[in-house]
Amino acid sequence: MSETKPFSLDRACRALAGRAVQGGEKCMFHVCSPVGWINDPNGFSVFDGKIHLFFQHYPYDTQWGPMHWGHVITDDLVLWQLLPEALAPDQRYESGCFSGSAVSFDNRHALIYTSHLDTTDVYGHPLAIQNQSLALGDGVKYEKSALNPVVTGNALPFGSSRSDFRDPKVWKENGRYRMVVANRAEDQSGQALLYESVNLTTWRFVTILARSAGRLGKMWECPDFFPLDGRQLLLVCPQEMTPPGSGEFHGGSCAACLIGDWDEKTKTFSREYVRSVDFGTDFYAPQTTLLPDGRRVMIAWMQCWDNNVTPASQDWSGIMTFPRELRVEGGCLVQLPVREIERYYASADLSFGIAGQTPVPLAHSRHLDFTLTVRNASAAVFHLDVAANGDYATRITYDAPARRLVIDRTRSGMEQDKYPVQVIPLRETYNTVSLRVLLDTWTMELFLNDGIQAVSALIYTPAHAQDVLLSAPLPVLYAFEGHEIVTGIGEVVHAD
Ligand code: FRU
Repeated sequence: MSETKPFSLDRACRALAGRAVQGGEKCMFHVCSPVGWINDPNGFSVFDGKIHLFFQHYPYDTQWGPMHWGHVITDDLVLWQLLPEALAPDQRYESGCFSGSAVSFDNRHALIYTSHLDTTDVYGHPLAIQNQSLALGDGVKYEKSALNPVVTGNALPFGSSRSDFRDPKVWKENGRYRMVVANRAEDQSGQALLYESVNLTTWRFVTILARSAGRLGKMWECPDFFPLDGRQLLLVCPQEMTPPGSGEFHGGSCAACLIGDWDEKTKTFSREYVRSVDFGTDFYAPQTTLLPDGRRVMIAWMQCWDNNVTPASQDWSGIMTFPRELRVEGGCLVQLPVREIERYYASADLSFGIAGQTPVPLAHSRHLDFTLTVRNASAAVFHLDVAANGDYATRITYDAPARRLVIDRTRSGMEQDKYPVQVIPLRETYNTVSLRVLLDTWTMELFLNDGIQAVSALIYTPAHAQDVLLSAPLPVLYAFEGHEIVTGIGEVVHAD
């Protein structure tokens, strides 16, 4: 180990003392940064009877810095326990432990991550080198392999960048391991590379799974590749993408889902649909895992690189989305909050009626899972205000004639919000429309018509703004079913 490395696991673990990822001033059922900065979810996996989640972590500042891996575990995807820091950039071959994944190997928990190294070229110019490394552990403590890095730029196909080669996602299939890694090709297209191994240390390049071909960004980050409902899905996070005119993608950094088929014989992935994973600007770097009961579950960083809206008063920055169950239906990725949330329903509010210009109060809380259904909605316009009081409101407008949803955070009390108003095209209009909303303190996740479109939005609105209100320019017929969530891990401290 290099003497000069300023970062160590010990130092990071000390920074975690007395910290939690939920409760207090954090969210109640979403994973929040324990202290300092977090971004991508990493190593989402099941090992030794627990669900593990790691995350990109810089414990010493609320801005991104040399990356560590933080670590939490859960039994039910709702309540999480903080474990000691898992990885620190403490080796001479890395200045950051970038994103990656986890699998079981020989009764050990294997973390496969990117060793990012800031160095200089022969002329003294700054140069980044990215390789893939391995650490093995017992579910709490991890040790880096003496063979690191286990995949270097030498295993890249011709014409691929050694500086943008990261975010390995590994899974086990037919007795061997496979891994998809993000890369930038020299022609400035994003590409997803497939590798294979039997022992996690020797890897063989198999094929280029897909490329952006000048349309879906110039680099793809955080790929994931898995079968679902008879199709094959490739998730990627395009960088520097000019959004196509369809409105499917917004201008900020985002996540795309390529739905198609995989031919094992010819090792080809053919894509049929390219979809936005989530239409919110606060959604990036999703990662999935397969639960023992067969559910494919996804979690993402609920923020993106273009819009850091964390209040300056916090000594922590970053929240994960609530985990979502995935399905594929009619060429769309369908997602809903994992059903375990139902175990924490404290009460049920049911109401039905006709709403008009005067706002109808539907609920009063910042910890809610509710569904608003509007009938005869094929030409309806209505507004749903959440986290509202006289001063504040986050307004969701469903506008069937304009075929759009609008999320307006102008009155959400946010600092430095670059995207206060977001216009989301409706893929269809519906006769009966339902909006399922998951609210947890600083987060709002919206699932349209059983998860056919999803929108994630941070709402750092003072915690006492708790009303949920429905209003409409012309009367609409509605049904409301709302559940308050109680986990017993502490209420919010007001950030007013
Ligand atoms: C995505 C990303 C990854 C990288 C990590 C660094 O958000 O840029 O590509 O591994 O974050 O923190």
